[in-house]
Amino acid sequence: MTAPLTLAQMATQVLTTADGKAKTDLSRSHAATWFAARQQDPCPIEIGTAQPPLHPARPEHPELLSPRDVPKRKPGSEAGRIAMLHAVAHIELNAVDLHWDIIARFSHVPLPVGFFDDWVKAADEESKHFRLICDCLESLGSHYGALPAHRGMWKATEDTVDDLMGRLAVVPMVLEARGLDVTPSMIKIFKQAKLTQAVEALEVIYSEEVSHVAYGSKWFYFLCGRENLDPKEVFHQLVRKYFRGALKPPFNEEKRADAGIPPDFYWPLADTVKPMQGL
Ligand SMILES: [Fe+2]
Ligand SMILES: [Fe+2]
Repeated sequence: MTAPLTLAQMATQVLTTADGKAKTDLSRSHAATWFAARQQDPCPIEIGTAQPPLHPARPEHPELLSPRDVPKRKPGSEAGRIAMLHAVAHIELNAVDLHWDIIARFSHVPLPVGFFDDWVKAADEESKHFRLICDCLESLGSHYGALPAHRGMWKATEDTVDDLMGRLAVVPMVLEARGLDVTPSMIKIFKQAKLTQAVEALEVIYSEEVSHVAYGSKWFYFLCGRENLDPKEVFHQLVRKYFRGALKPPFNEEKRADAGIPPDFYWPLADTVKPMQGL
């Protein structure tokens, strides 16, 4: 009998699968296998170690362009709404790889098994998000790959291949937290257009993304505590090191608080001064 794959090997398999649907099918089935194994004591699947690719495999389409070359979209038109959903699908597919990458990339770091549970769950949810948005695109007569997409999204991952705290600071606690800020206005646009399927998909994404940001802050605090470091100071240093540019208000303070990120983490990194309370 061949030995079961380790979790790090499963993660690498997802990262090296190019097609979006094949990637998300494999991601969901590996997540189910992992959580079934975790019901057993001892867990028959080891974390293991792996050498994930620096860049995940991607489908031939969409064409990847630098951010300034991606055509601007007008949200009031059908074409604009399709472009917006296409951009969300691209973010979700990147997020699938981001979460499997943190598992494979840092599998050699001694961490509680709950760290791996959290990112497998997040990767499973991103896979579901990608498929929900693909379904919306298809019901509007389009598909993922029909439009060009943003090339820059993997940069933060590449820059933090050997810095777990940097990865947590920039990916879940900055990039995914930004999703919490912008999703409510997107939901409004699709509500106005009476596109119920897209509204429902975005509402699932909005509610589940809070926990991804929360996993980021939980493990960031954990690592700071283990090293006896001040989380706020370290967060500011790492975001300044790895994230180019300032954070953009308005911030969704309520959802950020739900995810364990206090205002004094992000306001000092914003491109404007925090408004006075009560004004
Ligand atoms: Fe997502
Ligand atoms: Fe996420």
